[in-house]
Amino acid sequence: MLSEKETHEIEKELKQYKTRQAAGVEALKIIQRSRGWVDDEGIKDLSAILGMTPDELDGVATFYNLIFRKPVGAHVILICDTVSCWVMGYEKILSHLKNRLGIGLGETSPDGLFTLLPIPCLGACDKAPAMMIDEELYWNLTPEKIDELIKRYGWKG
Ligand code: FES
Repeated sequence: MLSEKETHEIEKELKQYKTRQAAGVEALKIIQRSRGWVDDEGIKDLSAILGMTPDELDGVATFYNLIFRKPVGAHVILICDTVSCWVMGYEKILSHLKNRLGIGLGETSPDGLFTLLPIPCLGACDKAPAMMIDEELYWNLTPEKIDELIKRYGWKG
């Protein structure tokens, strides 16, 4: 069941849109902010409010990279795997992150601190390689810069 706070925020968001369905992504974000990810129950309850089937809303959630349909760590690292970043050292950056965190793409570190996920172009191609941690964008990445960043988010090494 949606919490009172979630319902209140969703109702407020709905007023900004011409149709209830159009508020889908923002409403999913509200659930994600309060739960850390969007569970099946959240999809079911929200789809009823939006006048969609759970499958339709799940399709929206799955399409949108920043909605998580599985539990994630306290911080989500989204590493760009599109062409400019590939050319500018994606593999080196990815393997450094994997080594430091002890996880692969799609996994969460055992301490629950980080989840590592791929994402298409983050729009920082001229400063590749790039990644996001939560909602912050970081670019011109090097192994040293990665170490400094993950420490800032609580990595103890
Ligand atoms: S290709 Fe990575 S930011 Fe555009």
